[in-house]
Amino acid sequence: MKQIQMTKTTSFSLINTKKIIQLNDIWTSYDSKNFALEGINMSIDRGANYAIVGQSGSGKSTLLKLMNGMMIPSKGTIKIDYVTPNIKDKKFKKMMHTIGYIPQSLGLIKNSTVLENVLIGALPRLSTIQSMLKKFPENEVQEAKKIIKQVGLEGKEDRKAYMLSGGEKRRVAIARAFMQKPTILLADEIVSELDHVTAREIMDLIADAQKRLNLTAIMVHHDMQLALEYANRVAVIKEGQKILEIGVEGDTIVDFQTGDMTTDQIMEMYKDEPKK
Ligand SMILES: Nc1ncnc2c1ncn2[C@@H]1O[C@H](COP(=O)(O)OP(=O)(O)OP(=O)(O)O)[C@@H](O)[C@H]1O
Ligand SMILES: [Mg+2]
Repeated sequence: MKQIQMTKTTSFSLINTKKIIQLNDIWTSYDSKNFALEGINMSIDRGANYAIVGQSGSGKSTLLKLMNGMMIPSKGTIKIDYVTPNIKDKKFKKMMHTIGYIPQSLGLIKNSTVLENVLIGALPRLSTIQSMLKKFPENEVQEAKKIIKQVGLEGKEDRKAYMLSGGEKRRVAIARAFMQKPTILLADEIVSELDHVTAREIMDLIADAQKRLNLTAIMVHHDMQLALEYANRVAVIKEGQKILEIGVEGDTIVDFQTGDMTTDQIMEMYKDEPKK
């Protein structure tokens, strides 16, 4: 048998996975009687814009909560960059600040200003004392102002969150997530219920940040058309199961779950799903 001689030893300091998020046969339940998710498999590439679409109650928010470590699956494994998400776990806590999570309710502090809300994203970088006193260093304040400008809210830094329009509130939530300097963005229906122009403006903001920061975005949508326009992959969830996973390659929609389909067939399939 031929022997391979190792002539050179290489030392590696870092292992990098192309698949930043992996879900393996995930089952989860809120009440230990009914399953909110049943056997979900998902594999998300670093830098991807991954969309999750499905009707109300199908399990979309639950999926994001699992990726954020707020929920633990009843069965199956999840890995985010080799780490199992669990907010009680020390190893995950260390990487949590690199995950920008925007909940469906946005989670803004209504009585705080735009600037104060955005600065919350910098809290993990502060010392304990600074963080307790909410004493933000000048460079963080300047960074927050820069991001506020990037999301189109310049001049509204001192406005209280409750005084903002729906679209503006979403921009603040995005700015707060960007302030974290995240590698992953989990956004739960942040453009739903917005007019098409505003929805696209907000999606463009995220697409632009993805190019600049090599951000991986996992976004829950209600609008399949919008999801297809921006995402590399779209997973369709129905009653806790992933029934379809499609991607856009050039002008073609590719079905990654059941073989190639035409756009019309995919769209026809989606039309059968009643929307919220
Ligand atoms: N805190 C909870 N306690 C018990 N059941 C829950 C809880 N949150 C969600 N569920 C249930 O889990 C299932 C999935 O809910 P989830 O919120 O993930 O749906 P969704 O797809 O995000 O819906 P929507 O589009 O309305 O936001 C639903 O049947 C829902 O009733
Ligand atoms: Mg939801």
